[in-house]
Amino acid sequence: MSAPTLSTREADLQEHFAATIAADRRIEPRDWMPEGYRKTLVRQIAQHAHSEIIGMQPEGDWLLAAPSLRRKAVLLAKVQDEAGHGLYLYAAAETLGADRADLTDKLIEGRQKYSSIFNYPTLTYADVGVIGWLVDGAAICNQVPLCRSSYGPYARAMIRVCKEESFHQRQGYELLLTMMGGTDEQRAMVQDAVDRWWWPSLMMFGPPDADSPNSAQSMAWGIKRHGNDELRQRFVDMSVPQAEVLGVTLPDPDLHWDSEAGHWRFGPIDWEHFRQVLAGDGPCNAERIARRRAARDDNAWVTEAATAFASRHGG
Ligand SMILES: [Fe+2]
Ligand SMILES: [Fe+2]
Repeated sequence: MSAPTLSTREADLQEHFAATIAADRRIEPRDWMPEGYRKTLVRQIAQHAHSEIIGMQPEGDWLLAAPSLRRKAVLLAKVQDEAGHGLYLYAAAETLGADRADLTDKLIEGRQKYSSIFNYPTLTYADVGVIGWLVDGAAICNQVPLCRSSYGPYARAMIRVCKEESFHQRQGYELLLTMMGGTDEQRAMVQDAVDRWWWPSLMMFGPPDADSPNSAQSMAWGIKRHGNDELRQRFVDMSVPQAEVLGVTLPDPDLHWDSEAGHWRFGPIDWEHFRQVLAGDGPCNAERIARRRAARDDNAWVTEAATAFASRHGG
């Protein structure tokens, strides 16, 4: 019997990968995977990790100005969770051969993206509530299906992330309920925050599937489980009744119930605005990256000290 040729071996590996995906089993770091699959995952996981870390900034801005000790403790716990999410995700990217410091450099140099939602300012404390309700709510819609993503380390990281995201959404909603039961001024603050965050939240699901070039391949590989439009619709259907309970108006004159389809229909999304923010022209893009750069540079001594300690102690 002759030894298998390299091409036979390659064909076997490809077949094993395809069979694993077809059977809805997980691909693990030790498994062979096509280069495109690996690259797509690194790009998606890095973008996700960057979003968690950059996402600490808009809410972190309110840590020193929280209206009570209770609100401060809740917000601090939430912002710390986001740091943890970033760390699990960078660790998942490392199982694909990516280097964490290199990913951070790519973010700072604008070669990798983060979610456009974090390029808007948090003007009042109501923004903290609306981010929890809408932004973390949209994140849940996006991330729950990722718990079944075909790449094992990513899927497993998502299970814990999603549990924490539901706490984030609830703390936001509870804050808004409290404010809506307060003064006229507080109610106006909530409405103003909803007006500013509603449309950017819908954009978090990405462009329509027809304009989303990587979507179909990601679905075929089992990295993504649902299209952008389906997830966006799920989010709208979930949020409209919650807005009614809160007593706020969603800023969309076209929003109406389609009883035949069983969905809330919404007006056109300003994708030109989305592209501008994504390209770096949002209200806070420069500030977010400048701060991340300063954090990397100012804290470089910690990494250097830890690396020196580890090499001396064989760690
Ligand atoms: Fe998160
Ligand atoms: Fe969150």
